[in-house]
Amino acid sequence: MKTWDVVIIGGGVIGLSLAWRLRRDGASVLIVEKSEPAREATHAAGGMIAHCDPHNPPALASLIAASARMYPEFVRELREASFESPDLRNAGTLAFFEQDESPGCDAARAITDDDLTRLEPFVSLRGRSFFLPESSVDPRKLASALEKTLRQSGVDFVTGSPVNEVAVLGGRTAGVRTAKSFYAGDAVVNCAGAWASMIRPLGVPTRPVKGQMVCVVPPPGPHRPGPLIQHVIRTPEVYIIPRSDGRIVLGATVEEAGFDKRVDPDTVQRLHQAAANVAPAIGEMRIHEVWAGLRPGSPDDLPILGPTALPGYFAATGHYRDGILLAPITAHVMAQLLTVRKPDFDLAAFSPLRFR
Ligand code: GLY
Repeated sequence: MKTWDVVIIGGGVIGLSLAWRLRRDGASVLIVEKSEPAREATHAAGGMIAHCDPHNPPALASLIAASARMYPEFVRELREASFESPDLRNAGTLAFFEQDESPGCDAARAITDDDLTRLEPFVSLRGRSFFLPESSVDPRKLASALEKTLRQSGVDFVTGSPVNEVAVLGGRTAGVRTAKSFYAGDAVVNCAGAWASMIRPLGVPTRPVKGQMVCVVPPPGPHRPGPLIQHVIRTPEVYIIPRSDGRIVLGATVEEAGFDKRVDPDTVQRLHQAAANVAPAIGEMRIHEVWAGLRPGSPDDLPILGPTALPGYFAATGHYRDGILLAPITAHVMAQLLTVRKPDFDLAAFSPLRFR
């Protein structure tokens, strides 16, 4: 029977990124995915590398800063390996803040109304605004490039197979069990996002936090190439993420609604209107796609990273609103842990054992 060095439960951006780093370190890796890779929170994500967002949890500051720094090289390597582009955009973010808010990074700078007109002629909203040196990626393209790279480099995939439990033999993990099969592994990592809490033995307490999203495209007819706006734009009501092919993604709600992924037409309308209030031309754009995703929340809104109480069983999940942003650093530190190196960061605050 084949045995892998590491079995990863869940083929979202965290599982895929971790598999990539482990494979580079020489480990044999199997990803067991309940449906198809990257069809859940990764597919739904906006893709902002929002390291200057004042709402980022302070406990995550150093991991967030490190991950944002890693992104250019992470994407460069991925493009080289996959010949696919995750649409990394570096134009930056224009953020409108409430009076009592300040940007979450030193490199932010306040901008005037004239700056706004020059930077984004289609944006008519005015207010206390800042330029933030942030980037964005298209998470669907990022995941596609990761999956292609992994398949080329010999990472194995089992899809359409929810893991029910982590198997235990002699007091340590021996692999994973699905309804039909057993997959043997020396180590197992739970990267199952909002579904992580369903896998026995319990103890990775994520929950789904719904986000509804909208994608708009230019109306039919001749239009300028590329997106109408160049920067990511954030206001307290909406965020607006341009893609290089002209699509614009609008987000997002934050809802405690269980595993409900229905989309509500009024909410779609509200998001579209909020974006039109920022840039009236977005109101003229056609709704191309609407969807909802389930972010993996945790009891304290911080990721769950590191060894569990069961030897050989690890967690790397619970990234809540920051899964795309934190994928490179999560893969880096978890690969260090799994190959018995000291992680570059103190992960004590994110230990799965903190919930006991
Ligand atoms: N990271 C954006 C969101 O969670 O809506």
